[in-house]
Amino acid sequence: MAKRRSVAIVGAGIGEKHMKGYQAVAERFCVRTVCDLDEARGQALAATNPETGFTTSLEDVLTDSQIEIVDICLPPHLHFSAGARALEARKHVICEKPLATSLRDADQLIEIAKASGRQLFPVFQYRYGKAMAALQALIDAGLAGVPYVATLETHWNRPVAYYDIGWRGTWAGEQGGAVLSHAIHVHDLVCRVLGPIASVHAELGIRVNAIEVDDCAALAIRMENGALVTSSITLGASNDSTRLRFCFAGLTAESDRNAYSPATEEWTFEARAPVSQADIDAVLAAVPEFKPGFAGFFDAIADALDDRGGNEVTLLDGRRSLEFVTAIYASARGRGPVELPLGADHSLYDGWTP
Ligand SMILES: NC(=O)c1ccc[n+]([C@@H]2O[C@H](COP(=O)([O-])OP(=O)(O)OC[C@H]3O[C@@H](n4cnc5c(N)ncnc54)[C@H](O)[C@@H]3O)[C@@H](O)[C@H]2O)c1
Repeated sequence: MAKRRSVAIVGAGIGEKHMKGYQAVAERFCVRTVCDLDEARGQALAATNPETGFTTSLEDVLTDSQIEIVDICLPPHLHFSAGARALEARKHVICEKPLATSLRDADQLIEIAKASGRQLFPVFQYRYGKAMAALQALIDAGLAGVPYVATLETHWNRPVAYYDIGWRGTWAGEQGGAVLSHAIHVHDLVCRVLGPIASVHAELGIRVNAIEVDDCAALAIRMENGALVTSSITLGASNDSTRLRFCFAGLTAESDRNAYSPATEEWTFEARAPVSQADIDAVLAAVPEFKPGFAGFFDAIADALDDRGGNEVTLLDGRRSLEFVTAIYASARGRGPVELPLGADHSLYDGWTP
């Protein structure tokens, strides 16, 4: 029987969704501990799983030799320090987005991971599901061809009450706005499909709530492969909807509007001549089912730890997402396009918070 890997979930907010993800692949993971400063919240989550204990102390987690993986679900400003400590304690780490709050910290995590011989997997669970697998299969089959444009919409609704949790909406706690916390998922998806970003021109606004950080954005993006992408972001939509549309030479792919798991639903894939719909449908018919969302994300991590990697989110993917965020803030403040990649000599390398 395959090894079950022992996990501590640190932070019981989104940690609840992580717990359900582990339970969906319970043959590969055992959640040994939930850690949260809020006893009632943490204990309530631990009680949802018979194998799981509870502690308020991260130190207890780091000194527990039974725990192999520390899954960090803390507010953003705590990710770097908790991730670094866990790696130094020779744990593998799973870390909620954003991986860190500067390129400097991301590069330091890369170094610490190398030195510790442990792996760090940033969370991007939107990748996992049948629709992304279907689009990848069409690309691999040569039917998609040259990518022309893509449009991305992160149109979510965050009322005033969302900001009752103190760290949200602040530079000190959240460390950024909708381009960091919300649209980071679709930006990961577009890179997954189209590869690296070459440049971005960003316009940002605070238009929905009285907060410190952006809650609306319009981004014009050029990918290294030449594709042109627009990303429209607001936290003031009537409901929560995420939408992606890719126009390739051979087909147009369009998601539905599922806000939090756009890759798990059926997308439409329409042929563009000379590619025929029959060719596309034949490829789609052979795409296997994939575990969606967190279950697929954790499954890919177990594969990577079992030396069968390739489908997991990597530390470099996490760095790339922060490089894009850095470029967005640099563009919005400089009022012009910013070219990527960004290195240690960039003026916002140490962080984008004002
Ligand atoms: N992947 C996704 O789809 C997704 C969705 C929501 C949130 N997130 C990310 O997850 C992270 C957490 O967000 P949330 O909405 O769950 O926040 P939250 O504030 O609801 O939960 C964080 C928990 O961490 C606990 N905590 C704080 N400091 C602690 C410490 N030092 N030791 C132990 N526990 C501590 C708090 O008591 C709280 O229960 C954020 O980075 C957010 O961006 C990701």
